[in-house]
Amino acid sequence: MFSRYKKPAAPGPAPMAPAAQAQAAPAPVAEQLRPVVSRRPLDGAAPLQAAQAVAADKEKKRKEKLSELKVQLHKRLLDDLNLSALEHASEADLRQEIGAITNEALEEMGVVLNKDERATLNQELYDEVMGLGPLEPLLKDDTVNDILVNGPQQIFVERAGKLTLTDITFKDERHLLRIIDKIVSAVGRRVDESNPYVDARLADGSRFNCMVPPVAVDGSLVSIRKFKKEKLKVDDLVRFGAFTEEMAAYLQAAVSTRLNVIVSGGTGSGKTTTLNALSSFIDNAERILTIEDTAELQLQQVHVGRMESRPPNVEGKGAVTQRDCLRNALRMRPDRIIVGETRGEEVIDMLQAMNTGHDGSMTTIHANSARDGISRLENMVAMAGIEMPIKAVRSQIASAVNLIVQASRLQDGSRRMVSITEITGMEGDVISMQEIFRYERLGLAPDGKIIGRFTATGIRSHYADRFKQWGYDLPAAIYEPAA
Ligand SMILES: Nc1ncnc2c1ncn2[C@@H]1O[C@H](COP(=O)(O)OP(=O)(O)OP(=O)(O)O)[C@@H](O)[C@H]1O
Ligand SMILES: [Mg+2]
Repeated sequence: MFSRYKKPAAPGPAPMAPAAQAQAAPAPVAEQLRPVVSRRPLDGAAPLQAAQAVAADKEKKRKEKLSELKVQLHKRLLDDLNLSALEHASEADLRQEIGAITNEALEEMGVVLNKDERATLNQELYDEVMGLGPLEPLLKDDTVNDILVNGPQQIFVERAGKLTLTDITFKDERHLLRIIDKIVSAVGRRVDESNPYVDARLADGSRFNCMVPPVAVDGSLVSIRKFKKEKLKVDDLVRFGAFTEEMAAYLQAAVSTRLNVIVSGGTGSGKTTTLNALSSFIDNAERILTIEDTAELQLQQVHVGRMESRPPNVEGKGAVTQRDCLRNALRMRPDRIIVGETRGEEVIDMLQAMNTGHDGSMTTIHANSARDGISRLENMVAMAGIEMPIKAVRSQIASAVNLIVQASRLQDGSRRMVSITEITGMEGDVISMQEIFRYERLGLAPDGKIIGRFTATGIRSHYADRFKQWGYDLPAAIYEPAA
């Protein structure tokens, strides 16, 4: 076979390493790879169960054989392919090449596969060589939001808010580590025993985090938040039942009239999605600066400057924190500042920015309720080493933050805005707030879905006059509780 991408045949050793050949030589693999079909109809439950167990066992063995075969072929591809020439090869060329090398190898090994098996094998090998191996089909699957790997044998995915275990696995920890290494080295980072975890952004924009042994006890841990090209818009969120049209109208008034908004919620509750959707209410003429640890926001406005913080390099130098970005942002004449997630000392600058002319700024925090969110802010200020009496901290927060929107992922997987709370000032030492909208749980349907409804609390917005002055005259009815 002639090929541009194949290394010139080395004289001497046969194309396949002797060890691999020894493994492949007794290859009655073909036989074992055939799907198991029960020929005789069985009657009675017990024999049927036994037959099913045997079939499952054979299927498992067959999968193991296929996976072994893939490892051998992958090794052979890496040996045979001229990797530097591959950089400029088209996908079609490469697929053809992989197909040809696999065919040759399968023939040599005396392995027979049907058309589907061959296609799957070729695809998996392509993914191994060019992509992220077993993770590749999950990355391509648009219904998957999150991919969570707990060691080589366990990959969970989240679809529509529900976590499920997949039957996809890595061959072993080494295989998993190889893929992790491929990901982190592509972004110029390194992960090993002395530097056991990495946060990075994949080429497609997905957020990636990994931690390797021995810190990860049972094998490497990987979490991927898939990047969605089509971000959920306000209309989509209303359609999915994340909040109501009335709440959307209220939020539009709040964002347009430049209230400072915090989106609070647990992990994966939809904070970033909500922040992104809320940003669509910002006027196109405004200059917006966004600051994130991993750039996820996709603003629709024309005038947007995006910043991404940077961890220190291997020598511990060169870090650019969110706080650095934020301080610099203040010199860049922004109309609004959006911080992806406030989690540390940048809280000081965020509060200051919100208090000093950059109203209409937004951020998210990790908290389980509006009240909890305020405590988180107080703690962050204390952790940043600012020695201020608690009352002073609270009054800073009370004058900086106008609105806390609480996002939540409920137990049935649905994501909802469970509360919209306004901060109205201070009463003595305590920050006073009032809830304007909330989600009420009413029960549980037999299929496990939560039955509930959104309702206003009956309290008129503290900012109703401001809304009116700015031309957002919301009808009084939107503050009336559901009957
Ligand atoms: N209302 C919704 N309906 C359906 N899917 C949603 C909804 N809100 C968010 N999602 C999806 O849920 C996933 C998690 O959302 P998002 O990234 O906004 O969460 P987060 O709270 O910012 O998470 P993290 O704490 O990890 O930053 C995303 O894939 C997003 O597309
Ligand atoms: Mg987020």
